[in-house]
Amino acid sequence: MKNTVTLTDNRNGKSYEFPILDGTLGPSVIDISNLYKDTNMFTFDRGYTSTAMCRSEITFIDGAKGELKYRGYDIDWLAKNKIFLDVIHLLLHKKLPNQVELSEFRTRLKMRSFINEKMMSLFSAFPDRAHPMAVLQACVANLSAYYKRDMNFDDPVEYMELAERLVAKMPTLAAFYHRYTMGYPFIYPDLDRGFTENFLYMMRSFPHSHVNISPIEVKALDTVLMLHADHEQNASTTTVRTVGSTHSHPYSCVSAGIGALWGHAHGGANEGVIKQLEEIGSVDNVDKYIKKAKDKNDPFRLMGFGHRVYKNYDPRAKVLKSLRDELIDEIGIDSNLIKIANKIEKIVSEDDYFISRNLYPNVDFNSGLILKALKIPTAMFAVMFVIGRVPGWMAQWMELKEQDTIKIVRPRQLYVGPSSQNKDENLEKSNIEFSSSKDR
Ligand code: SDX
Repeated sequence: MKNTVTLTDNRNGKSYEFPILDGTLGPSVIDISNLYKDTNMFTFDRGYTSTAMCRSEITFIDGAKGELKYRGYDIDWLAKNKIFLDVIHLLLHKKLPNQVELSEFRTRLKMRSFINEKMMSLFSAFPDRAHPMAVLQACVANLSAYYKRDMNFDDPVEYMELAERLVAKMPTLAAFYHRYTMGYPFIYPDLDRGFTENFLYMMRSFPHSHVNISPIEVKALDTVLMLHADHEQNASTTTVRTVGSTHSHPYSCVSAGIGALWGHAHGGANEGVIKQLEEIGSVDNVDKYIKKAKDKNDPFRLMGFGHRVYKNYDPRAKVLKSLRDELIDEIGIDSNLIKIANKIEKIVSEDDYFISRNLYPNVDFNSGLILKALKIPTAMFAVMFVIGRVPGWMAQWMELKEQDTIKIVRPRQLYVGPSSQNKDENLEKSNIEFSSSKDR
């Protein structure tokens, strides 16, 4: 049996054969690289719903079963047995670290968690009310000015260093901007604290004073970050790969990824969930909003529900829901918002509109409640998504670099515009001013 598919053009009876490529898991793909050359036609696939853009060994999602694996490890197992630092090492270095490797990795990231002091003036270029994602996008692009001149990012050793530097600095950039907007003194990373704890330390501490950070809070944030670490070719990762395909600087690729993640349909949804729950305000109002979500003429959508790939419960949402319930007593999650969230989830699970469209809670539905309980400002929720996702973005960028021939991303289109208009004699010839200033 030939591992091919045959396409027949019924307009002229011509047939074309295309190879089927099998992966280790998930759907096979039809390799249509020669489709345009053979048929003089393109495919049309809005939002690339049915299109695989690359080969990857990093993350696998089974949307039907609601499963997620980082380099073959189930997310549930990682969340129970490992910390975010293990997962960062797994994504960047392709293996879970042993104790020695983890200790050396932790030290390298700590030593790289500081930012060049010249960058501090960048914060004052922003108005106080600037959205943190706008600032973070600019800061990451700015980093390319510091680590471009002497870095050869075609050398795997050097681009791994770039990757570790960016992972290490992201929490510091995020915390520093928060301190700047609040008018607080900057708190530098504390080399005696772990990766995740250090972020809460930089956000909460004040000079010469004790800071209260409980182990359960560190575990909660660590789990949230781990669950966001990578997720196949989502919109922001596709953006990082697209910019990477032009051989741009990795930090400009990540800066573009931050811009993509900011949108409320993507990484901005966790902020949208909290704003929506607060707008609903009471369980008595839930039915009104459910009705809006189902109304075809109303652009309103339930934030934190639905997913392009998961047509089952997002496994990350499951982990976060049990973590949320574990935290309720420990760190006091807003019980009114929990009641509203629980009522929404119950209605959605029983209503045919949502069931027929496979709309389940996604990662953002509970992450916002946990981040709010950790006293992270709502405007910084997407920033937390960035801190979690940077290891995935850099792993995907390195995988692109390791693939022998980087093909620049350049999709085609179905042109539906005017075929020709310059024959229209009625159009006056524009009297373009080419005159130089001395003629005037
Ligand atoms: C993330 O891709 C990733 O992996 C992303 C992510 C990651 O880790 O990188 O998982 C992170 O972005 C999670 C998603 C966060 N976004 C939200 O929670 C925003 C709300 N959700 C939606 O906007 C929507 O569900 C998307 C964007 C997530 C998915 O959109 P799709 O796959 O393009 O689906 P669609 O818009 O074609 O919707 C299919 C149907 C439509 O109804 P019909 O036209 O069939 O009648 O479902 C409806 C939609 O109107 N629908 C919703 C809905 N989501 C889809 N109706 C109400 N509320 C919703 N949330």
